[in-house]
Amino acid sequence: LAEIDVDVSQVAEGQSITAKWRGKPIFIRQRTAQEVEEAKTTDLGELKDPIARNANIAADAPATDVNRAAEGREQWLVMVGVCTHLGCIPLGQSGNYDGWFCPCHGSHYDTAGRIRQGPAPTNMEIPPFTFTSDTTVRIG
Ligand code: FES
Repeated sequence: LAEIDVDVSQVAEGQSITAKWRGKPIFIRQRTAQEVEEAKTTDLGELKDPIARNANIAADAPATDVNRAAEGREQWLVMVGVCTHLGCIPLGQSGNYDGWFCPCHGSHYDTAGRIRQGPAPTNMEIPPFTFTSDTTVRIG
C-alpha cells in the first residue's frame, strides 16, 4: 500500500502505537510535555547526526525538535521505527535519553528519535505523512 490512514484517537499523551507501512514499523507517539521540552532544549551541537531526516521538509534541514515533530503539532512524533545501524526495532521509552533503545548493539535515541549514543549513524527517519484530521494520520 502506498498510503495508509491511521486512527490515533486512542493514543493519549505519553502513549504510542505502531503502524505498518511498506513493511516497516511506524512509531506514532504523542509525547509528554517533558519529552518535548527535553528534545527542544537539546543543544544541536550535541547531536551525532545534525540532519532532521524528515521526508516532509528540506533534505538538509537541521535536526531541531520542530523539524522532527509533526508540523504544528509538536507533541506528535511519527517515525520509521527501524534502527539506522543494522535495522533492528528499538524499544520505546528506554535508553539513556528517555527515547528509544536498540538492544541489538546498544544505540540510544532521544525523545525526538535522534541518535545520541551507540553505533547507529543517523537519526531515525521521518516518513512522508500528514494529519488529515485531529485524529487521523496519513502515512505515505
Ligand atoms: Fe540497532 Fe545495531 S541494529 S544498534
